[in-house]
Amino acid sequence: MQDQKILVVDYGSQYTQLIARRIRENKTFCEVVQPSFLQNKIDLENIIGIILSGGPNSVTTDNNYDLPDFIFEEDIPVLGICFGMQLICKNFNAKIEKSTSREYGKANLQILKDDLIFNDVNKSIEVWMSHGDSVIDVPKNFIKIASTNKKSLSAIKLIDKNIYGFQFHPEVTHTLDSGKIIYNFVVKICKSKEMWTTKNIITNQIALIKEKVKNDNVILGLSGGVDSSVSAAILHKAIGSRLTCIFIDNGLLRLNEKIQVEKSFKDFKGIKIIYIDASDFFLKRLNGIIDPEEKRKIIGKTFIDVFQDEAKKINNAQWLAQGTIYPDVIESAASSENAHLIKSHHNVGGLPENMNLKLVEPLRELFKDEVRKLGIELGIDKKLINRHPFPGPGLAVRILGEVKKEYADILREADNIFIEMLHEKNLYNNISQAFTVFMPVKSVGVTGDGRAYGNVVSLRAVKTIDFMTAKPFDFPFDFLEEVSTKIINEIPSISRVCLDISSKPPATIEWE
Ligand code: XMP
Repeated sequence: MQDQKILVVDYGSQYTQLIARRIRENKTFCEVVQPSFLQNKIDLENIIGIILSGGPNSVTTDNNYDLPDFIFEEDIPVLGICFGMQLICKNFNAKIEKSTSREYGKANLQILKDDLIFNDVNKSIEVWMSHGDSVIDVPKNFIKIASTNKKSLSAIKLIDKNIYGFQFHPEVTHTLDSGKIIYNFVVKICKSKEMWTTKNIITNQIALIKEKVKNDNVILGLSGGVDSSVSAAILHKAIGSRLTCIFIDNGLLRLNEKIQVEKSFKDFKGIKIIYIDASDFFLKRLNGIIDPEEKRKIIGKTFIDVFQDEAKKINNAQWLAQGTIYPDVIESAASSENAHLIKSHHNVGGLPENMNLKLVEPLRELFKDEVRKLGIELGIDKKLINRHPFPGPGLAVRILGEVKKEYADILREADNIFIEMLHEKNLYNNISQAFTVFMPVKSVGVTGDGRAYGNVVSLRAVKTIDFMTAKPFDFPFDFLEEVSTKIINEIPSISRVCLDISSKPPATIEWE
């Protein structure tokens, strides 16, 4: 339980997570809740502020979202953004109209009144607008504090109370002034003690894990990815040798994955990591399988089978640790309450309930950037922490069609050349995800005086914020030429290197 928190009520805005991250950047804990949460009996003691998000609904036609009385009766500061502002205004019987045209994009905001929320903010700033409905009259007892033109009500405030409504999105543009508005709300108005720091998060989590797990043993599936590695590091700090990590090599990992994991945990004295080479078992089950979904299912099931077998050998394990992070929690809650938000999830399904283990999820409250900071503070190798995401089914979705050991070996080598060169040329951190794809076709080439007949690989590199949409990375041509030459020279079985320049949509990031 946090000492202080801000509630962010999610009405389905695409920016809800961004609001939460901006609050956390101001060293303050916040929790994203669904609208129905407000209808429960809420313990208000630690709540220092409430933000009502925007959303795709309209208060003119949708009556599902009434605000409970406590929002206006308590002395808790409230900020309604866009739909959130309209909800506040509806509560005060203001006239709200559906506009015929949406106001969308950048606009110039004039600050009309001195108010703590605009402390140290320029009188005229650029803001981000995105709304259909408009509030027509200033509701009774409110004042207009900023506007983008004479008629518009871009920001209002309840006289004598810290209840604000913004028609613009202060969370979106990261201009200094927008950032200051969030800071002013969180720190000056909600009076945050700014305690949500990496050091404090670690100390709190360690105490929580100790309290939860007591003297029991915990097992954890370590994949070499950021989330499972940071979970392992913090659990190790909390319970030492009562944690056992299981690392399964399924034959579909990147080159030197085991070495990378060993290197990352070399300074974690006494950490127990069991390395299982199950590659033959996985590849045997994948033999002859071409369909991508079937490949995924087989890998997921085989992972569970191997993990369960190993877990049985560990004496007295009562807990299973998982690297669930906050966006997973928010998105699954939102998709159960708000159909607008349903997104497809890829994660290889969790481990089965019949394992009879209780769950411990030390990163459940953290965003990815917070997890990374924690990892670095805990002493995990920076290279692992900043690694691009890697899919659960591994190279199986990057080898088109049937998976064979020979193909996986070639792909590992080619991918390693590509990734190492990205590091060497300082491009790796500018890219969201980069990898190589293996095509089981042959193409003619010449090497020396001879004719070569080898395989084809494709390079893929994208830039994206949320992995739901993505753009191909714009490589310098010299780089492409150099990496292609190196791959063909060093791997005799490859005769040709292509570049994938498709955006998502219509393509996906992975090829299968
Ligand atoms: P797509 O290919 O759908 O990928 O554009 C979006 C992101 O999800 C990752 N991905 C997966 N992750 N299991 C995973 O754990 C999967 O089956 C899977 N498929 C795709 C992909 O690497 C990218 O980051």
